[in-house]
Amino acid sequence: MTPSIERILYTEDQIRARIAEVGREISHRFRGRPLKLVTVLKGGVFFLTALAQAIEIPVKVDFLAISSFAGHNPGLVRISKDLDDPIEGEDLLLVEDIVDTGLTSRYLLRTLAARGPNSLAICTLLDRTSRRLVQVPVEFRCFEIDDAFVVGFGLDYKQLFRNRTDLVVIRRDNSEARGQ
Ligand code: PRP
Repeated sequence: MTPSIERILYTEDQIRARIAEVGREISHRFRGRPLKLVTVLKGGVFFLTALAQAIEIPVKVDFLAISSFAGHNPGLVRISKDLDDPIEGEDLLLVEDIVDTGLTSRYLLRTLAARGPNSLAICTLLDRTSRRLVQVPVEFRCFEIDDAFVVGFGLDYKQLFRNRTDLVVIRRDNSEARGQ
């Protein structure tokens, strides 16, 4: 059954205004340096697109995909689609739609760091520190959120709702009331 919307967390205007601020911060930090934005399919694509357009310096983009080993440790993932190009010597920004337990970001930071980028930082749309299992350095964040199930702007519920231009909290059955 499609879940109902409980409340609007951030409107599209609020999201775009905040992304514009973060985009300016990133532009200042990396001015004069060629920056590459990397995100993880699928959810991160929506935020990456908006962020890239809010950054005032030229950027490159690249994408990877990961899959988890079902039934095994949470956070045990492997790269199922790698970046197209090497990142050695580049300034890299890992763009995430949400950092939750931190396990995905930690895995990606370690994997990407081993390829010798000049710098490596994380920028996330949503940061849910209350669910963190491992510490990861989040350099740029748009919003910190509490422990609700949020969809929109790339975040999904069973692959749905990614196309919402706002961020909303959905109401689910008790039987499904687990983290995203
Ligand atoms: C989300 C998000 C991060 C990860 C964060 O991806 O894009 O990659 O979860 O969670 P963590 O901090 O607990 O590791 P998801 O697995 O939902 O895939 P999707 O992007 O295809 O929706």
